[in-house]
This record gives sequence, structure tokens and C-alpha cells, in this order.
Amino acid sequence: MIINIAIDGPSGSGKSTMAKRISRELGYHYIDTGALYRAIALFVKRAGIDPGDEDAVSAGIAQINIGFRFSDRIQHTYLNEEDVSEQIRSPEISEYASRVSMLRCVRTRLLGIQRDFAMQHNLIMDGRDIGTTVLPDAQIKIYLTADVKDRATRRYEELLARGEKVDYETVLSDMVARDTQDMTRKLSPLRRAEDAVLVETTGLSLEAGYQKVKSVILSLLETL
Ligand code: DC
Repeated sequence: MIINIAIDGPSGSGKSTMAKRISRELGYHYIDTGALYRAIALFVKRAGIDPGDEDAVSAGIAQINIGFRFSDRIQHTYLNEEDVSEQIRSPEISEYASRVSMLRCVRTRLLGIQRDFAMQHNLIMDGRDIGTTVLPDAQIKIYLTADVKDRATRRYEELLARGEKVDYETVLSDMVARDTQDMTRKLSPLRRAEDAVLVETTGLSLEAGYQKVKSVILSLLETL
């Protein structure tokens, strides 16, 4: 039996760090679906396309390949033949990604890639709509969240560690704006699937949050 684990939640909830670590322990693949939206965002930005112009985005993305490959079980995200895993992490691309992810042409394009991979592999897939739309039949679904101030602090520290020049207030206000955009968009908004287990990590260290998520997943795996 192929096991699919869906983890959804807002940005900065620690999804990717936790999913990466747990998947390594389980020997599963880890798929970061946000990276695919980010790769499209990078393309749109480089091409000078207005992310609000669906016709232009649709015509543009018809000309490109988006995908991922693995090296030592680490996902590398590709835009055509270019590994863009690093370039897609800037705050500017975060904003573009949130905007292009509202578009039907973008969501439809990425849905097939995500489902095809999940049908063939044991995996943890994280995103916004994995439990609700991409993998509604996933055996395990987690909705991971934390207070927006906690999440902004984590993202701020992450960006600082990468050498980005940022200030906390901007990170916080960008995060509030992106949360609103992701939760209120018409297509596949971020929300907890009815059968997802809610895991709250407000006030917890990353390690404590990780232990909490891991114990939920391990106990659910035992029931399968
Ligand atoms: O998880 P992330 O911050 O890398 O995601 C970037 C953007 O992509 C986010 O603002 C919303 C969008 N996204 C989405 O709409 N659906 C997903 N499954 C994953 C990400």
C-alpha cells in the first residue's frame, strides 16, 4: 500500500522543516508543493508578466517545464533545465507565488504533477490544499498552525540566517497579507480538511513542535 501524508498550514508554521525531517526518518519522499508555485512565480517575474493577468500567465507557462528531481532525497525544483531551488526563496518571490497561486491555469497545471507523484510513492506532501484538494484520500492529514507572531519570528530568523536584509515588522505584515490572500482566494483556499488533525505549535520551540507532529503521525500510522 502506498502511504500519503498531507500537511497543510500557513507560511512559517514549520511544515517544511518538520515534514522534511519526519520523511527522512520514515524513509518517505518529501514534496514541498509551495516550491512549484514559487518556480512559476520566478518565471512570471523574470518574463515581466503581470501575475494578475491570467491570459498572459497561462500563455507563458504553456512554454515552460516545471518539475522536481531528488538528490540524496532532497527535492530540487526545476524551471526548464535550471535548478532554481535557491532563487525561489526570496520575499519577493513569496509575494509573487501567493498571487500566481490564485490562478486556475496555475493550479490545474500543478495538480497533475503532485497527484502523479503521490500515486507512486510513500510521501509527506506539504502545502495549502493537499488534504482538501490534491490528495483528498491521503491516509493521514495534519493541519499545522501557530500564532502569526510566532510564525513571523521564525521566518524572520530564517531570512536573517540566509543573509537577507529584512526587518521584523515587514516580515510580519507580509505574512498577515499572504495568510489573508491564501485563505480567502476562490480556488482551493488554505483551510483545514474536515478529517485533518489540528496541531498547534504556538509557544513551542521548533524541536517541541516537531516532536508533537511526529507523535501524531506515528500514532496514526499504527492505526493503518
Ligand atoms: O509554502 P510556500 O510559502 O512556499 O508557498 C508559496 C505560495 O504558494 C503560498 O503563498 C501559497 C501557494 N501555495 C498554494 O497555493 N498551494 C500549495 N499547495 C502550496 C503553496
